[in-house]
Amino acid sequence: AIPAEGITAISAPAVEAVQIPKEATIVFGSQTGNAQRLAGRLADRLKADGFDVTVSAMNKFKTNDLKKAVNLFVLVSTHGEGDPPDNAVSFYEFLHSKRAPELKHVKYSVLALGDTSYEFFCKTGQDFDQRLNELGAEKLVDRADCDVDYEETASAWINAVAEKLNQAQAAPAVQAVSAVADATASSVVYTRNQPFQAEVIESINLNGRGSDRETRHLELSLEGSGITYEPGDAVGIVPHNDPQLVKELIEALGWKASEQVTTKDGVSLTIEEAFSTEYEITVLSKTLLEKFEPFAKNDKFKKLLADSNEVRAYVKGRDLLDLVEDFGPFTWQPSDVAGVLRKIPARLYSIASSLNAHPDEVHLTIRKVQYETHGRERNGVCSVYASERLEIGDRVSVFVQSNPNFKLPASHETPVIMIGPGTGVAPFRAFMEEREEQGASGKSWLFFGDRHYVTDFLYQTDWQRMLNEGALTKLEVAFSRDTEQKVYVQHRLLEHAAELYTWIEEGAHLYICGDEKHMAHDVHKALLQIIQEQRGVSEEAAAAYLQELQDAGRYQRDVY
Ligand code: 2AM
Repeated sequence: AIPAEGITAISAPAVEAVQIPKEATIVFGSQTGNAQRLAGRLADRLKADGFDVTVSAMNKFKTNDLKKAVNLFVLVSTHGEGDPPDNAVSFYEFLHSKRAPELKHVKYSVLALGDTSYEFFCKTGQDFDQRLNELGAEKLVDRADCDVDYEETASAWINAVAEKLNQAQAAPAVQAVSAVADATASSVVYTRNQPFQAEVIESINLNGRGSDRETRHLELSLEGSGITYEPGDAVGIVPHNDPQLVKELIEALGWKASEQVTTKDGVSLTIEEAFSTEYEITVLSKTLLEKFEPFAKNDKFKKLLADSNEVRAYVKGRDLLDLVEDFGPFTWQPSDVAGVLRKIPARLYSIASSLNAHPDEVHLTIRKVQYETHGRERNGVCSVYASERLEIGDRVSVFVQSNPNFKLPASHETPVIMIGPGTGVAPFRAFMEEREEQGASGKSWLFFGDRHYVTDFLYQTDWQRMLNEGALTKLEVAFSRDTEQKVYVQHRLLEHAAELYTWIEEGAHLYICGDEKHMAHDVHKALLQIIQEQRGVSEEAAAAYLQELQDAGRYQRDVY
């Protein structure tokens, strides 16, 4: 629960530049860990410059500390439909409430992370920026909004902040006493821009014959990479685009496959290679359409751009081929490609294996996405690449993205409740394999759901073995399409309300992984109902209880 805050007005200390304390308060809101990592980088940089730095997750930040903050830095991602990440919610609400203090004594800047293919790009960062401004804080450096390929923008922002702060120290900078050297390991760190080429060593369709779904179990070799990971972490795959789509796009543009393009990094590629491995061609956004404006030949496209509602409607579910077919020809040339398209974003998959159980390997669970819209069959870029074009022996570009917000309890004795229908079950395979390796004594309870028992029971033999051997204490399944009435994991939760609540009271950690919009939302509601009924409290009190669990790291979500 957030401590009640007095609405004490804080008088800004009247100080000269020389006297500005070398203080920096860094708060982050992070779902997948990027904002957290960047917060760490800013902190290291400022510490090296001799600043007294505090870094904390927004849900761990004592809002009372705003009173003594001098320089405030907010790093936050945007999730779903413009929502703050889980660990940003309480601080976001506090700042937007009447309890928020005046911040005239504070200088601030915001680094917003997001994805331009979403309508509410960087919305949470924008909200923080606006609100801090309303509360009287003074902008030190303009907000930077990062697209998925955030490195360049984020580094520039960190540099700008550091420079500005150092300038503000009018007195000759006191040399940093603490030597915060770049003490990171000398081993190669693989990233989106420097991925590891992992060999595919196994590829299995987990769904049985006759299933209407296809879920790929991929095993990749990490041999020679030195890559490590923990259960709860994710792997980023940099996929290749569909060769057929690439071909059709080049034809529609009237180009030759062999024409050369030069990337921003100075790499020379044929247009066919560039569309296959370098640039995103499957997603349209307002930002992208605006970049096409100078190349438009007809008024039809200009008219579309003039109406942002129409732009919003048009970009949904369409790709670059649609754009060229619907509004071409454009004067766009291969030499213009690098200035217009963004790099193919990596797709993150929750890791399905424990490194201790499978040294030098990482396993992933990837559901194939294929559907028809706007008169054409559409393929999920990465899932179809992984399912149909990656074969055993092939290499695939990967990197590990650690997720500090989805971790097993520190003690192996702590009970865990895991809710993961569909591919949401992946990290729980990693959790349970890890716990087997630890010889964990804590109880474990898995809730799994999918369409049909016979064809869609992902990792059934693993679960049954773990149950038999006692590693997994309980398993509840909900197959939604085997019965007339749909049953989902949350129905199973409600059926076991009393026992679940007992586990929670015993200290169990709760985990949800999978679909955010429907499943995670409904499961959250079911948990609220269980707590409300079992504790005999109001809805608000149940929500506060769940919030406390979340703040204590006992209710963690990995949802997408
Ligand atoms: P359905 O497709 O039959 O509706 C994994 O995709 C499983 O999650 C499927 O059984 C799917 O059921 C189910 N599912 C769909 N919507 C859900 C929701 N809101 N809550 C929980 N499970 C859901």
